[in-house]
Amino acid sequence: MKKILSVILAGLTFFTIHNTKAEEIDMTGKKVLVVYFSRTGEQYSVGNITEGNTAIIAKMIAEQTKADLFEVKLKNDTYPAAYKALTEVALSEKKANARPEIADDVENFADYDVVFIGSPNWWSDMPMALYTFIEAHNWIGKTVIPFVTHEGSGLSSIPSKIKTATGTDMLDGLAVYGHVAQNDRAQAKQNVTNWLKKLGF
Ligand SMILES: Cc1cc2nc3c(=O)[nH]c(=O)nc-3n(C[C@H](O)[C@H](O)[C@H](O)COP(=O)(O)O)c2cc1C
Repeated sequence: MKKILSVILAGLTFFTIHNTKAEEIDMTGKKVLVVYFSRTGEQYSVGNITEGNTAIIAKMIAEQTKADLFEVKLKNDTYPAAYKALTEVALSEKKANARPEIADDVENFADYDVVFIGSPNWWSDMPMALYTFIEAHNWIGKTVIPFVTHEGSGLSSIPSKIKTATGTDMLDGLAVYGHVAQNDRAQAKQNVTNWLKKLGF
């Protein structure tokens, strides 16, 4: 009996220490940043867009969490505006594990407690520029939360890729269809609000 009790207690202790469930994190007073990558131009299922799908979701998150926003942009943006051509460039960058140079940096990155990382799903991965950004920063002690826009693949393994690149644990991510973000803002906002609530915002 004693043995059974100590096994249960050990299990409970493990659960308490290692459980990083959102509702245990108090977001009050936390300094929050939303970092994202997003494209305008021709996009799958939505045609030519002037505001990227991920950008739309990033702005909703920033508004609701009173966060600062930072868009990761390429230093030399030679990506084609046409969707199919972009998919080819993106695939070759992914295969090469490229780290394209990015334009500028967040000010005072060290001050942020919570960082949302927003990405379009590109070939079940992030655009390589997000790796450039992630690898340029120190993530120790930060709470990292992924979100993705996609057209069917959902989050894919993007959260685990971010986890590997940042070395931090992730809170539950959000996946939103790009065409919903673009064309049904009320639905997208509802998804964002529900998710943020579960995270403790
Ligand atoms: C290069 C590229 C690759 C893509 N690969 C996928 C994919 O593997 N799975 C998927 O569901 N959507 C894929 N998409 C669709 C995008 O994830 C989707 O349109 C997203 O909302 C675009 O976000 P953005 O407007 O913020 O750039 C791809 C789009 C591009 C441009």
